[in-house]
Amino acid sequence: MVTIVVGGQWGDEGKGKIVSYLCLKDKPDIVSRAGVGPNAGHTVKHQGKKYALRLTPSGFLYAKARLLIGAGVLVNPQVVIEEIRTLGIEKRIGIDKRCGIIEEHHINYDKESKHLSGKIGSTGTGCGPANIDRAKRTLKQAQDVRSLKPYLADVPFEVNEALEKGMKVLIEGSQGFSLSLFYGTYPFVTSKDTSASMAAVDVGVGPRNIKDVIVAFKSYPSRVGEGPFPTELSPEESKRLGIAEYGTVTGRKRRAGAFDYDQGRYSAMINSASQIALTCIDYLDKDSRGVRKYEKLSSKAKAFIDEVENKVGVPVTLISTGPEMGETIDLRNEKL
Ligand code: GTP
Ligand code: IMP
Ligand code: MG
Repeated sequence: MVTIVVGGQWGDEGKGKIVSYLCLKDKPDIVSRAGVGPNAGHTVKHQGKKYALRLTPSGFLYAKARLLIGAGVLVNPQVVIEEIRTLGIEKRIGIDKRCGIIEEHHINYDKESKHLSGKIGSTGTGCGPANIDRAKRTLKQAQDVRSLKPYLADVPFEVNEALEKGMKVLIEGSQGFSLSLFYGTYPFVTSKDTSASMAAVDVGVGPRNIKDVIVAFKSYPSRVGEGPFPTELSPEESKRLGIAEYGTVTGRKRRAGAFDYDQGRYSAMINSASQIALTCIDYLDKDSRGVRKYEKLSSKAKAFIDEVENKVGVPVTLISTGPEMGETIDLRNEKL
């Protein structure tokens, strides 16, 4: 049984927090990272500690989970090895032997390119240039890198074997729907598709294995980098609302906007969403901060949740009321 979590907007919807909550609650046997690569920054906050993860699956806090990085994900060996050491996960991480490798020259190209870093506003982490080389078929793979040898795995084999035994697998996407190379706000997008189907491909799981697709939406979406943002608020307005944020990887200021229902519907359609995780409900209404019971939410927050559910047409089963993992309302038993 596979559950996929992906972003429904421009990334940074709080997937890291949702995935870590789901892992501690549902105890999946495997958590596998999908998505583009270390351009992502997933934030996990638990018991006062904050982790900013670029390649490690956000479910690492559930100590029994096998942690995998799917073949479709680009790996920067330095970044992943640093994370493995810091988190002490040497014994349970596996990196697919076919992951594409980001090298110094990809990062330099990304940062120096007027087109990528200037026009598109890339993260400068080398992902776009590495995917160019992958398409050219000149990119190195994880199996060509000595420092990654201890961690090499056949991720699809492990995952499909686990599925045959009836085990639970959680796949964690990165970025968000409107950054998809195919379906996003082209050319202001990332270097790959970001939908749930791609997340399954990244890990090597076929469509018949997917049980649930949870799309994370932020109550006030944010965007970093250039490109259209139809419901964008002015910086003064987002400051007044207290929703100003800065990027996990780049430290850049995130642009913020009102919830876009058209984006929500379209993204739920292409992702074939079965559930919505609605994050940052506390941005809407400060009284909702940290609330853990649906009944205790304000009527304003409840009305917004209903509106999202009705207009997007998918049940809101998880509500996040703060960055801490426990600041979550889980309605899956009631709604599914
Ligand atoms: P990408 O894979 O890079 O797209 O990131 P992500 O979806 O994992 O999100 P990221 O951690 O970059 O950004 C979300 C930010 O919001 C982080 O700082 C989280 O700690 C925070 N956050 C998550 N959920 C909530 C919430 O419900 N309320 C508040 N106030 N903050 C939240
Ligand atoms: P790239 O993926 O670094 O090439 O960046 C392309 C675009 O996607 C830029 O607008 C980035 O800001 C955006 N982007 C890439 N990864 C993330 C992410 O994890 N969160 C938010 N935006 C991202
Ligand atoms: Mg992020």
